[in-house]
Amino acid sequence: MALERIDKWLSAGQYSRKEAKQLIKDRRVMLNGKPVTDAGQKVNADTDEVLLDGKPFSLKKYIYIMLNKPQGVVSASRSPNEKTVVDLVPEHLKRNGLFPAGRLDKDTTGFVLITDDGAFAHNILSPKHHVEKTYLVTVENPLTKDGKMRLEEGLEMRDGTRFLPAYVKQSEEDACIFEVKICEGKYHQIKRMFAAVGSPVVALKRTHIGKLALDETLQPGQARELTKEELEQITK
Ligand code: URA
Repeated sequence: MALERIDKWLSAGQYSRKEAKQLIKDRRVMLNGKPVTDAGQKVNADTDEVLLDGKPFSLKKYIYIMLNKPQGVVSASRSPNEKTVVDLVPEHLKRNGLFPAGRLDKDTTGFVLITDDGAFAHNILSPKHHVEKTYLVTVENPLTKDGKMRLEEGLEMRDGTRFLPAYVKQSEEDACIFEVKICEGKYHQIKRMFAAVGSPVVALKRTHIGKLALDETLQPGQARELTKEELEQITK
């Protein structure tokens, strides 16, 4: 690749030219180990190492990361005294503005999508767009026939909250395990739904967002960037 002005190169993705110049002015950009002071300095993107705030600089406008969330971690960008899902993002994928697209409870495990793309997050979270989230639900006692039907028809809670109809399938191996698909993400939704029909949840794991399954080779606490094809499976 040809040599290019560093301010121009920096502004090919997430930053405008003006913002790129400001990053340089603020001494936040390093080229091959030295702070960049001149916006006109030349860079060879194939061979040079560019760091922003000490982290490898990515030209991609947005980033999409799959995390296998362990228990005990909060679904937030930052927290003064608790470990967050964003804290678990590996250093080479970290950038400003990362947040979880949808929250799992502290004790829920599984697939969390972390991104800096607000519009994409809004699309997959809004029930209007029908992106299903699939959960593996373990309950204290099996659902009654009536309980299952109520979940499938949609529930109205005593406080007036309405839950849309859910897909509910009992495991063939264990009567206390269910696969459940919902398009909403209301506070404690699955736990409240199952408690309302007399089968409290004892363990909850999110396995899919849209058609994309959690990569089971990721150990709890591990995360990796999604490929373009995987990202498409979320909204397919
Ligand atoms: N429903 C819940 O009750 N908790 C979660 O973490 C996700 C869905």
